Amino acid sequence: MTVSLRWGVLGTGHIANRFSGQVAALGGRARLQSVGARDPARAREFAVLHGFARAGSYEDVLADPQVDAVYVSLLNRDHARWCIAAARAGKHILCEKPAALHAGELDAMLAAARGSGVRFVEAFAYRFHPRWRALLRLLPEIGGPTVAHGAFCFHAGSPPKGRLLDAVGGGALMDVGCYPLSWLIGLLGAPTRLACTARLAGTGVDLAAAVGLEFAGGSVAQALCACDTATPQRAWIAGPQGVIEVDEPFRNRPGAGMRLLRGDEVREITWNDDGLELYAREALAMAGCDADGSHPAMSWADSRALAGAIDACRSQAGVRWPGES
Ligand SMILES: NC(=O)c1ccc[n+]([C@@H]2O[C@H](COP(=O)([O-])OP(=O)(O)OC[C@H]3O[C@@H](n4cnc5c(N)ncnc54)[C@H](OP(=O)(O)O)[C@@H]3O)[C@@H](O)[C@H]2O)c1
Repeated sequence: MTVSLRWGVLGTGHIANRFSGQVAALGGRARLQSVGARDPARAREFAVLHGFARAGSYEDVLADPQVDAVYVSLLNRDHARWCIAAARAGKHILCEKPAALHAGELDAMLAAARGSGVRFVEAFAYRFHPRWRALLRLLPEIGGPTVAHGAFCFHAGSPPKGRLLDAVGGGALMDVGCYPLSWLIGLLGAPTRLACTARLAGTGVDLAAAVGLEFAGGSVAQALCACDTATPQRAWIAGPQGVIEVDEPFRNRPGAGMRLLRGDEVREITWNDDGLELYAREALAMAGCDADGSHPAMSWADSRALAGAIDACRSQAGVRWPGES
């Protein structure tokens, strides 16, 4: 029998609220044990809202012996510090995307997880959706992939507000570009070469970016992202025998489809939907990690390839965190 994990949540923001609501709805399949916030009063309110047994500071969550796994939903610039602290406290880690500010930081996080023998998963929820597995199964039908495209562009205000334009950890590449880049990496592997161009905000981070990529075997792809302009969220991958088109590939809204186009054939693809909500699935997926702590659906190798790709994009686009040369 699978033993349900007891969760600690660091942060009480937008996505922590959605994650906690969905985990609470799982009933006995996962438990909300402890929530931490900068302001303990805010943590207590959040605990009452979602049914956590305890509330306090981030440190209190990590010190709670009843917590098996923590969900790190803090700002990007704070992920590494708290993931490393969580690993040292012996907690499994589900860390919001993008896990790290740069590849070096990610390596330190993974080393801490490995050193403590805990699981670590970067929270790309679409990877745990049954549609992702259906897409992987469908790939042979297009022949070896030769070209692919992914876009995640949304309008968060002109200019975007809140954390999006933070000089450390902000920008469209970090917020949404990581989705199409991770999608392409999941299908084609780590890119062997890329070229990135971007439109920057006054804070030095990108408002929009376009990335061209090459992969081993010769396939090429493009990834597009923006946080000040909305476009349809769409991705496709093609080979000599056909194309797979995916609607809403990253949000997986109910009703978002996927189809295979081959010559005159248009085949709508279906998959077994377990009816679970997107973030609830991530919480349950932690049980499916391999013995080395990495999950096959979003492996440490994928996280490393993604962090390296974002570093290369930022370097070419001129987006530098303070202290980077
Ligand atoms: N998976 C998804 O679909 C998805 C969607 C949106 C965002 N995300 C990711 O989730 C993470 C959090 O995003 P969010 O939209 O939830 O962010 P958010 O609500 O703006 O903030 C998250 C938490 O960060 C802390 N925080 C906020 N401002 C701070 C400041 N100025 N200094 C120090 N800490 C501060 C707060 O913690 P306290 O509660 O302790 O005060 C806040 O609750 C990011 O990594 C983002 O990329 C994922």
